[in-house]
Amino acid sequence: TAAPAVAHTREELKAAREALPSRDVAVVMTMGALHDGHAQLIRAARQRHAHVVVTIFLNPLQFGPKEDLSRYPRTFDADMAICRSAEVDVVFAPTPDVVYPDGDPGVRVSAGPLGEVLEGASRRGHFDGVLTVVGKLLHLTAARSAYFGQKDAQQMLLIRRMVRDLDFPVDIVSVPTVREPDGLAMSSRNMYLTTSDREVALCLSRALRAGSDAAAFGPSAIRRAAREVLVEEPLALVDYLVLVHPHTLADVPEWYRGEALLAVAARVGTTRLIDNTPVLVGPG
Ligand code: PAJ
Repeated sequence: TAAPAVAHTREELKAAREALPSRDVAVVMTMGALHDGHAQLIRAARQRHAHVVVTIFLNPLQFGPKEDLSRYPRTFDADMAICRSAEVDVVFAPTPDVVYPDGDPGVRVSAGPLGEVLEGASRRGHFDGVLTVVGKLLHLTAARSAYFGQKDAQQMLLIRRMVRDLDFPVDIVSVPTVREPDGLAMSSRNMYLTTSDREVALCLSRALRAGSDAAAFGPSAIRRAAREVLVEEPLALVDYLVLVHPHTLADVPEWYRGEALLAVAARVGTTRLIDNTPVLVGPG
């Protein structure tokens, strides 16, 4: 298969986009360090659209001053190999000065209250940074559809809200979380984990599984089952474990029945990990 066209500037992106025979373009946005979760988004996009554009941009705007921007893995050659075998048409890999030519943008997209809970509570301004770059990349790529992972459920929810609230002419498609055979959700940040960290990290997906297994018994049973797994692993420093409504992110009450989101965040070693699963709170 042919190598994807690589664009580093706005002009190169525009030229590469205009060289595509069809306007039916889907975009998969990434920060690089591609793994099979990213590849799954590309495959899903590939199946439904004539062309796929992948963006690789480590967006400084969504990292706090004490976060891992400087150590975030950069694996451009391996990323290109994955894009090539996944038959990506165009890779847009700009530098920060291409995306933010005037430096820090004065105008940003505000995520609002849903951006201040869960991930937003410990990462202030994170989702404003995410939505600002997603909005810009939707404009620059002029894609009809954009594919995102359910792994980042709050990000997904906020992107859907932005597109609705601000009338972006794009379809947002969610792709289920891709996991390692042992259950660990794939993440670029897994590269930070030592061998023993990685064992500890398994408690996140185990807790989610224990919670889903208790789905028929109601919210407090689900939360209890998940919490019991996490307390068994003192080396995982839990930030939150919640069972929330999938659209409002509010804790579901005990009488709640229907679709909910069981989500967890914990620090393992020096790495902050997140995971979640949809849970159908029963009895059905
Ligand atoms: P990044 O963490 O690189 O993730 C890029 C996309 O891959 C996101 O939509 C994310 O949800 C999805 N993804 C990551 N791990 C996954 C997994 N195990 N299974 C399925 N999908 C997975 O998310 C970002 O980058 C950035 O915030 C971005 C949207 C690119 C804006 O900068």
